[in-house]
Amino acid sequence: MKKTKTYHITTFGCQMNEHDSETLAGMLAEKGYEESPERDEADVVIFNTCSVRDNADKRFFGTLGQLKKIKKSRDLTLCVCGCMMQQQHIIDDIKKKFPWVDVIFGTHNIHQFPQLLDSALEEKKRVINVWEDGGEIVEGLPAKRLYKHKAFVNIMYGCNNFCTYCIVPYTRGRERSRKPEDILREVKCLVADGVREVTLLGQNVNSYRGDENTDFSDLIYMLNEVEGLERIRFMTSHPKDLSDKLIQAYVDCEKLCKYIHLPVQCGSSRVLKEMNRKYTREDYLELIRKLRAAVPEITISTDIIVGFPGETEEEFEETLSLVAEVEYDSAFTFLYSIRKGTPAEKYPDQIPEEVKHERFNRLVDLVNEISAKKNAAYVGRVEKVLVEGYSKNTATAYSGRTDGFKLINFEGSEDLVGKIVNVRVTAGKTFSLEGEIVSE
Ligand code: SAH
Ligand code: SF4
Ligand code: F3S
Repeated sequence: MKKTKTYHITTFGCQMNEHDSETLAGMLAEKGYEESPERDEADVVIFNTCSVRDNADKRFFGTLGQLKKIKKSRDLTLCVCGCMMQQQHIIDDIKKKFPWVDVIFGTHNIHQFPQLLDSALEEKKRVINVWEDGGEIVEGLPAKRLYKHKAFVNIMYGCNNFCTYCIVPYTRGRERSRKPEDILREVKCLVADGVREVTLLGQNVNSYRGDENTDFSDLIYMLNEVEGLERIRFMTSHPKDLSDKLIQAYVDCEKLCKYIHLPVQCGSSRVLKEMNRKYTREDYLELIRKLRAAVPEITISTDIIVGFPGETEEEFEETLSLVAEVEYDSAFTFLYSIRKGTPAEKYPDQIPEEVKHERFNRLVDLVNEISAKKNAAYVGRVEKVLVEGYSKNTATAYSGRTDGFKLINFEGSEDLVGKIVNVRVTAGKTFSLEGEIVSE
């Protein structure tokens, strides 16, 4: 009997990439491939890359180097895609230093992957096909979901904001929104397939414009009516156009989880201007005030960059004071990383690495202290939790997410997976909660 061919995908970067990898897996499943848990045993190995910071680039190149030996020892098709491939200097590097790569494609043409793979296999030579920008949105691609009960749904692609530090507008192209009816159809299909929670994806979901009558809030109201769907989340929203209408949607739509990831990047209005974020510290704090006034229990997370060119000690302290004022439930903190081709690459006053690290450590200490305090205050509360599966800790421990997106571990059983259960919080740690089920 002929052995079934296998694949392995390594994904770097954000949910957009994770979802693209689900699509790649779906297309390979349609071709009869099976997933291999081990990269070293797979027939087709894919790296879906991220370019947002330098360390993502480095990790990728490191692994690519290691694959040379394996590639020599057996038949294997090595494919690379994702945001890094949208940069010519990266493709040039791969051609020069890693000639053992077989297929290179970009973020705009993942739908072509099956053909590209076929031609690489048939012609036994390297295939490179990267589109500079996105064409028409391709609907109806398959996806092999990572989770049974929750799913990612792209609602828009690309970004028009050009924050001066960021590579994404160059790797993902201009904003394009999917039609509301296509999104609705997909969500209904997912629900029919057992999905209870959807996360709407886009670099800046509140720029969504499905048609003249449908902006992002309209889309939420529409999806709130889908029978069988229990939870709606979204990632990411930009403070510059977080509307009152969206805040009202939290009040009106019971399926919209009371959680928002609202990247602030920095607490100094001068630096925010240099970053081209289009809001001030005061604008941002006002949004937080409005959100909390409308939805008192809302949980809030953010992204922060430390050491943007020209950031002074005082300006960094403004970030610390903003964090202390907002009291985030959690925050992703990043060292500023120079990205080739972005305006900030050329800014003078790049901050020395040791200064960046020193500020970064102070920020992380504060963020963690606040997270721990916030989580401790949950003890005794009963939270609705969508049970996801085993937690990594022990065999009887299950984990899930609260409405406010907090990770919680508790004793459970297999039959609860995919259900929403009530869990009483018994302990709060820095990055998660512990709890016990009180009733189904
Ligand atoms: N579209 C999203 C962000 C996507 S990138 C938004 O605007 O909210 C995710 C995060 O990576 C950003 O929020 C930012 O904090 C960080 N980031 C982006 N470019 C970076 C860079 N050059 N150096 C360090 N962090 C960066
Ligand atoms: Fe990057 Fe800014 Fe676009 Fe977010 S909004 S993807 S940070 S350019
Ligand atoms: Fe990275 Fe591309 Fe996402 S650069 S963060 S994978 S959009």
